[in-house]
This record gives sequence, C-alpha cells and structure tokens, in this order.
Amino acid sequence: MKSLHTTSLFAASLLACASTVALAQSQPWTDTSKPADQRAAAAVAAMTLDEKLGLVMGYTDPEQLVKEPDDIVSPAIKADVKANHIKGSAGYIAGIPRLGIPAQWQTDASIGVRVTGMERTALPSSLATAASFDPKVTEAGGIMIATEARASGFNVFLAGGGNLAREPRNGRNFEYTGEDPLLTGRMTGGLINGIQSQHMVSTMKHWAVNDQESQRTTVDATISKPAMRQSDLLAFEMIYDLSNPGSVMCSYNLLNGDWACENDYLNNRVLKQDWGFKGYVMSDWGAVHSSAKAANAGLDQFTGYPCCGHHGAFFSAKTLKADIENGAIPMSRIDDMAERILWPLFAKGVVDNPVKVGPIDFEADANVSQKAAEASLVLLKNAGNLLPLTGVKSIAMIGGHADKGVMAGGGSSGVTPVGGNAVPGLEPKTWPGPVVFMPSSPVEALKAAKPEATISYISGDNIKKAAALAKTSEVAIVFVTQWMGEGIDNPLELPGNQDALVAAVVKANPKTIVVVESGGAILMPWAGKVPAILEAFYPGARGGQAIASILTGKVNPSGHLPISFPASNAQLAHAEIPGFHKPDGIRVGITYDEGAAIGYKWYDVKGYKPLFAFGHGLSYTTFATSAPVATADGPNDVSVGGSVTNTGSVAGAAVMQVYISPDNWQAAGWEAPKRLVAFQKAELAPGQGQNFTAKVDPKLLATYDETTDSWVVKGGIYHVRLGQASDDLPQSVDITLPDSRWSAVH
Ligand code: BGC
Repeated sequence: MKSLHTTSLFAASLLACASTVALAQSQPWTDTSKPADQRAAAAVAAMTLDEKLGLVMGYTDPEQLVKEPDDIVSPAIKADVKANHIKGSAGYIAGIPRLGIPAQWQTDASIGVRVTGMERTALPSSLATAASFDPKVTEAGGIMIATEARASGFNVFLAGGGNLAREPRNGRNFEYTGEDPLLTGRMTGGLINGIQSQHMVSTMKHWAVNDQESQRTTVDATISKPAMRQSDLLAFEMIYDLSNPGSVMCSYNLLNGDWACENDYLNNRVLKQDWGFKGYVMSDWGAVHSSAKAANAGLDQFTGYPCCGHHGAFFSAKTLKADIENGAIPMSRIDDMAERILWPLFAKGVVDNPVKVGPIDFEADANVSQKAAEASLVLLKNAGNLLPLTGVKSIAMIGGHADKGVMAGGGSSGVTPVGGNAVPGLEPKTWPGPVVFMPSSPVEALKAAKPEATISYISGDNIKKAAALAKTSEVAIVFVTQWMGEGIDNPLELPGNQDALVAAVVKANPKTIVVVESGGAILMPWAGKVPAILEAFYPGARGGQAIASILTGKVNPSGHLPISFPASNAQLAHAEIPGFHKPDGIRVGITYDEGAAIGYKWYDVKGYKPLFAFGHGLSYTTFATSAPVATADGPNDVSVGGSVTNTGSVAGAAVMQVYISPDNWQAAGWEAPKRLVAFQKAELAPGQGQNFTAKVDPKLLATYDETTDSWVVKGGIYHVRLGQASDDLPQSVDITLPDSRWSAVH
C-alpha cells in the first residue's frame, strides 16, 4: 500500500513536472527561471494589439465609466472594470486571463491602503517617518502596508512620494520625505523596498518638480537642468538607485513648458536613457494631455480614466490605435509600453505570487505604526528639562482634539483608520477632506501612562478658560494642529486662535509644553516663551500612544527635522506662491531661481538662521561625536565616518550626520556651502559608543554639466563635518579631491 502510494505520488509529481515543462515551452513567460525582461518580451510577443492596449489603459470608478461612450471605453472593459475593480480604490487595469497575466489593482498611497470606507492601518505621515533618519523604519512600514494591501486584493501601490520640500507651504509635503536628496533617497527608498519585498509594484511619485499644489494641474515650473539634476531629480535618482521601483508616476504640472507626462526630457532622456529604468511611467490621475505625444515622450500607462479631467479624445485604445495606423506611434513603442508594464509584474513577483484577500492582524500593524512614530517624533526644545514628565501631579491638556485622537493629512493618501474617524464633521468635509483624526487619544494614553496624576482636558476654543485650567495645574500641554491636504497649499501660520492660545497658556503657566501636529514646518511666534516643544507631524494610527510614550520618557525621543523650520516668512525663497488659494485651472508659472539651494542650503546661502534647523532633534540623554574620519581615493571612492557616545544616563538613539563643504563652494560650482552626504542612527545605552563609516555617493560631491551629460567634481580641499544637526557640526576633517568627470548615464 505504502509503495503504491509513493509510486502514485511520484507519478503525479512527474506529470506536474511534465506539464510545467510543457507550459514553459508553450508559454515561456511562465518559466520562473528566466529573467523578468525575457518573460515580459515573450508574453508581449504572444499578445494581440488589443491586449497590449488593454495593459496601457487604466480605469477607475465604474459608476462613471459606464457613462462613457462605447467607442472610448468598450462594453467589455466596462463590464470587466465593474466586476473586478475594488470599489473606492484608486484604479484598475484589466488582466489577460488567457495568458495568465493578472489584473493590476492599484491602491494609494505612502502611509497605508486607501479605499473609501475600508478601515486600514495608517503609518505616521511620510515626513514624520523621514524624521526617524532610519530607513529601517520606512522599510518596516512598507512591509506592513504592503501586507495589508495584498490582503485587501491589491498588487500595485501608488506610494513612494519623493518630491523635495522646496516650497515649505506645499500642501503635500507630509506625503514626502523632506528637503534633502540623500535623506529622501534613503527614506522613500526604504519604503519602496519594504513594499516591493512583498511582491507588489510600487511607484515613486510625483515625477517631477511638482513642488506646489496651488494650480497643480496648470502650473509650469521653470528650472535649469543642472539645478534640477542636483535637487529634485537627484532625490528621485537616489530613490531609484536604492529601491528600483517598478513604476514612476509622472506629475500634473508642466516642467519647462511641457507637461510632465509628455515630457521627453524627464521620461525618455533622464529616466529611461540616463538611469536605465526598465519599468513603466504611469500618469497621475488626469495628468494626460495627448496620446501620440505622450506615448512618444515616454508615458507607458494612461491611468485613472475617467477621473479628473481625462479627455476620451486622447485617452482611449481607439485613439492610440488610430495613432498607430497613421504612423504617429510606432508599433515598437506599443510593444515597449506593454513590456515595461509587464517587467515589474514579473520582476517583483506579482505574477508568480497572486494576491489573495485574507485576514489582517491590525494589532500587530498598529504596533509597527506606533514604533515608527516613536522613532520619529522630534523634541525641538526642552528648556530646564521640563520633559520627560516625572513626578508631576496635575496636568492640563488643551486643544487639538487631544481627547479624541491625532490629526492626519487629507487627499489621496488619507487612510480610513481602524475604528473610524475620531473627530468627524470638521471642515473641509469634501475633497481633499474629510479631515480625519486617528482614534488614538493623547489624553487617554497619558492617563493610562500616569494613573497617579490628575489629568484634565479642555478644548482651546475658549482661551480664558484654557488659561485658567493651565494656571491651576502643575504643567500644561497645548496641542496645536495644522491640516494640510492634496491640491492646496497653506500658510505657515497656525490657523484660528492657536497662536493666541499658546501665548495665553504659557503666560498663565510657564511650565507649558506644546505638541505640534502639522503637515510640515509652521511658524511659532511663541517659541521663545515656551520651554518645551514636541513636533509630532501626523503621527499615525497610534500617534496618541507614541506622544504619551515620549512625554513620559518611556521612549526617548530620537527624531530629527527632515525640513528646516523658518523663523519668519521673510526667510522663504518665494514670497508668494503663484495661484495660491485661487480657483483651480489658472495657467501660472513659477521660476525656481534658487535652483538646487533648497531648505538648509538656501538658509546657508542667504546667511539666515532658521527657527529650527534641518537635522535638529533633542534627546533625554546627551551624545558626543568624535572627530570624523574621511578617506578619499578620488570622488568615486570617498568614505566618511565617525563615532558617537551616549554621555548621559539613559538609553537613547543618536543621529550622526556628515556634511561636506568645499573650501570655496562658489568656485566648486555648488549651489550652497554644504550638503548632507551620510547619516546613521545609533541606539546606545548610557556610556556606549558606536563607530560608523559610509561611502559617499559621488553625485553629492559633484555638479551636473548639461552640455556633456556628466557629473563634474572640482578638485581641491573639502571639509568633512560631523555632528548632530545641520547647524551643529563641531567636528571637521579635510580631504583633497582631484578634478573628475564621469557620465551621468548609469
Ligand atoms: C494623486 C496621486 C494619486 C492618484 C490616484 C492623484 O490625485 O496626485 O498621488 O496616486 O490621484 O488616487
């Protein structure tokens, strides 16, 4: 019996083997031993033109779609989208069942799965997790949100926000990872690595120079090629180098006169030619403005129809077909588009690991989010060591709906939290609202952490009452909020009466702590008077618990600012944002004269002292950095490093930051006196030290030469500076670099 069973098992496995071999011969793209590009090419070779065009067209919202004319969206596609699109999600691209090519189910965005009405776990905002200065944090976050996405039926994540915070008032800065190319490269790269490790395709977006939301669909950004290659595009290049995203989402704006999604320079020249990108460029939703021009300029997937002003006249398989027939689009280009779309589906394991809807461990996922927040919150000020709160008997907590939850940003990255919106009904209720508060109350969390203290809460609406409560309490904590959302920019001033509230509370009780929940930088006219300030950004699903952990000292703060906080509006590179708070659709232009001098670089060039500098962040312990070490065997082989020791009495995490300054930055052609070239976070027990060394990306030492498409280093002395913030670099060592030049083509 036993041997019969073994024989039949053997026969069955032989049969399975034979059929796999047969399948691999008849459908070579199923052969998992072949490289992804060969599998993609083989699959495309087996496709009809309609099947190829099917991969190129992405749809959303079946309710709208059925109203489209049949010659724009065929009845077959309408039926397929209706049956298979996940209601309330971002987009859907039909699969090709006869060839085993799965449909593409697309979900937003960088902090978690966004489907209207579907409760999922939100990470802290991307800007918040960038403050961890620890790519392991964003990678763990990427794994968590991708696991939820796959369990929800998705295989493409519209994540990976990587625009630099060139404009501090940009309403989407919270979806991005700061003002520095290296920090953005490593932090967004970490997120994408996490997502793609789970057999999903991730985008990086919004490509490129989409640095303001005002008039985002009509603004023309003007910037020189060297300036963008050394700033916005450098950040994307670093993300690309570190995480190899399967897709790149082109943005709404025009860049130097051409829409980003039909911008030959961006998509063909830089991305595909210079960087060797093998994946596909997908349009942002409604960012397509032509058919042949866009396709020939490198757009591979026309997504999100009929969302946001797409026009059927240029957005349909019919139009593309006509353009092929009249020779406007070569057939080889259509093949290339289809192959590029398939490449990551094979390379990232999407085809070989089909998504399966299943259960989600929300408790475990919320823990990932809380850990991310705890690694990210930034202690900006702590005069007299007011924090952590030890031995305090009475605490007044004021404002910011802190009794209910913590704020989140609005728009397509807005996740519906598990447990629902903690503060429903706030304005704006419609796009890019609703305003969402994660149901994680700092008040409840602090009460749980400090049962011995009397903790009272009052909203900040009545300033007098709030100040009176503060006066009768030992310590006051004011929560201030600044809501940001996609499609709008906002001033840096806190809205409403919040500045007056803080001023009144600190006057009533000098032991006042301010906790800031903001999209990005804000102005703090009260900063000089308030002894302690904690920047929490949008701290995610368990933000309340994370804030309480830091306030009580259960967790030692270790976040550092990924953006500079200006001292006043007068320090901004642009006094006005063109089209700010005007109805959408006005054609405006913005010229980025500051070039690559973004954030701390701008402050350095102008000699401005920000309120809080890029890289700044305090701890409950103290750290000392050693003299840095640097070796240079030419620009392509520069290593920097140093060590840091915890000189205080509690465990904590330091962030070592290395910047390089040419001896004469203007002569070297740099945009500013210094650039961040390396950073490392180190968890240290009291008395413990840690060394680190890192290889410097040579592009961070170079300038971009447009005429030869190359990177150029000017020989001379460079100062390697180590410290714990861009304005705190006590240690320095010199290296000498020779003249050098190399091609920008990877
Ligand atoms: C946003 C993208 C998003 C897309 C799909 C657009 O409005 O700009 O970031 O991925 O919508 O929802």
